[in-house]
Amino acid sequence: MAQIKTIAVLTSGGDAPGMNACIRAVTRSAIYEGWKVYGVYRGYEGLINGEFKELTSSSVSNTIQRGGTFLKTARSKEFLSDEGQRKAYEQLKAHDVDALIVIGGNGSLTGARDFAKEYDMRVIGLPGTIDNDLYGTDLTIGYDTALNTIVDCVDKIRDTATSHDRIFFIEVMGRDAGFLAQNSAIASGAEAAIIPEDQTDVDQLAQFIGRGMRKSKNSSIVLVSESKENGQGGALYYAERVRKEYPQYDVRVTILGHLQRGGTPSASDRILASRLGYAAIEALNEGQRNIMVGIANDKIVYVPLTRAVKQNKPIDKELISVLNVLSI
Ligand code: F6P
Repeated sequence: MAQIKTIAVLTSGGDAPGMNACIRAVTRSAIYEGWKVYGVYRGYEGLINGEFKELTSSSVSNTIQRGGTFLKTARSKEFLSDEGQRKAYEQLKAHDVDALIVIGGNGSLTGARDFAKEYDMRVIGLPGTIDNDLYGTDLTIGYDTALNTIVDCVDKIRDTATSHDRIFFIEVMGRDAGFLAQNSAIASGAEAAIIPEDQTDVDQLAQFIGRGMRKSKNSSIVLVSESKENGQGGALYYAERVRKEYPQYDVRVTILGHLQRGGTPSASDRILASRLGYAAIEALNEGQRNIMVGIANDKIVYVPLTRAVKQNKPIDKELISVLNVLSI
């Protein structure tokens, strides 16, 4: 395989705290190898439109602590088409790029997988999403920071929930995964979490009400995943049901929304992003291609892109028991 001389890096999909730390790690590790690095602006959109800018070691100074992504990001429809991918490949060739590093979530790495199948380009994916929903990695960049942001918000909401003896349904992001809801519920001492992974034949609302609020507890916090099935789900849906089915309770809803994606990355996310960015360059040096670099049991792992995006990442059912027992 030809020696690598030039790489390109981009961020795609929803931004996540720690993406800047990851771009920094990729850039500096590649420069250490003597390679040229292009930052591609606005994700796959910028790849198609040729928004390339060379990154130097100093271009990534003072970025490790910043939220968002200085390369900007987008959800590109055009990259889903054959024509869009062809244009992207032509841009990479025009810039003599030997390998492409994509930092993003499920949708972005699905795009990377399809592109890698079709074109002769070494592609490495890095898991960057607050959702933590990529298979084969224990953690994704941004998840820890988002979790901490949510817990901080829930602590504040609990003050008012307790003062008024109310049930609060707090909706959190995660797309179709319940990691943020389940773990923020445990970390904030919430009474319940409603997550898609536990939606088999049990009605999670009835279960929560059935367990009953402990006599000494007149208020409750329920973390609700944003995921909806057949239009049903989310905090507003459950609050409405309580109003109809259990009118004795005073209910309120808070949808945390995009504030979960912002803010300075936690130390854990900065370390994860730095390790993964560095490992992406190591992987290229080892001749790897079309993989996602992840972390499992605190060790770097290589996961074929096809597996990382295709399989549903299971949630540890013990987390459900932990919350149920500790919330009595
Ligand atoms: O994938 C990250 C995420 O924040 C999801 O949790 C959420 O469903 C989605 O992105 C929101 O996307 P957008 O910012 O495009 O509204």
